[in-house]
Amino acid sequence: MKFQGSQDYVATDDLMLAVNAAITLQRPLLVKGEPGTGKTMLAEQVAAALNLPLLQWHIKSTTKAQQGLYEYDAVSRLRDSQLSDDESAAKVRDIRNYIVKGTLWQAFESDQPVALLIDEIDKADIEFPNDLLRELDRMEFYVYETRELIKARHRPLVFITSNNEKELPDAFLRRCFFHYIKFPEPTTMQKIVDVHFPGIKQELLSAAMRTFFEVRNLPGLKKKPSTSELLDWLRLLVAEDLAPELLASKDDKVIIPPLVGALLKNEQDITLFEKLVFMQSRNR
Ligand SMILES: Nc1ncnc2c1ncn2[C@@H]1O[C@H](COP(=O)(O)OP(=O)(O)O)[C@@H](O)[C@H]1O
Ligand SMILES: [Mg+2]
Repeated sequence: MKFQGSQDYVATDDLMLAVNAAITLQRPLLVKGEPGTGKTMLAEQVAAALNLPLLQWHIKSTTKAQQGLYEYDAVSRLRDSQLSDDESAAKVRDIRNYIVKGTLWQAFESDQPVALLIDEIDKADIEFPNDLLRELDRMEFYVYETRELIKARHRPLVFITSNNEKELPDAFLRRCFFHYIKFPEPTTMQKIVDVHFPGIKQELLSAAMRTFFEVRNLPGLKKKPSTSELLDWLRLLVAEDLAPELLASKDDKVIIPPLVGALLKNEQDITLFEKLVFMQSRNR
């Protein structure tokens, strides 16, 4: 099994190296990076390229590690126990009917090797990664209600993504192979855009890219626009068929780009931009 990028996804050499290292070591690949740098899509693309079904577990602030293993549905059991027919009575007697399998269990019991995505692990509370150490290490867990040990038939290829909102515990990091997806250089970004807009007019594209990186490099921005924002913005520019000249002023001064709402998502950043433009006009 080796990952060599794909038609729809631009993978830099160091990213491919990291994916293959994680495969070789049989350790989870922990992918960090700004939102919109292709972390979730990486898991989808690697799974597709290696022909593995992808099981996805999207983490929220309220997600508990146990939910990835299984949950015991006590409420349904109680409700069924109040019914008087024989079928319900038989069902109630077997606790296994009320064990709901989580994503990890589904990955462990699959007959064929699978890829498993644990997406945005930093959303959960601090205990979450620690609670999964043993499961990810040994690929097994115990179901107390049925006294069963669930062991993975095949070690899944695990992807864990983080937007870096929280630090992860050392014991957890030690078990992963780590890769940070750096924000793409202009040349890589050009390739990514080409994947999404194969026929885009080069003049428009180069003007848009210049403006995009200018906006991104503006000091003091609260939220820098990312790859997915650039793609959205380009989609709009193409749909509106805007002339490239509208993206830059002739004398190389900063202007507020058209449809800026696709790039900047809060009023402070837009105000910052407006101030800059205002100051420039006074310095003329
Ligand atoms: N390397 C890449 N190649 C192709 N498209 C990309 C790449 N990186 C990001 N994208 C685009 O950006 C979007 C956001 O990517 P996503 O995987 O959701 O980011 P993240 O999970 O890091 O927040 C994707 O839907 C894709 O269109
Ligand atoms: Mg994501």
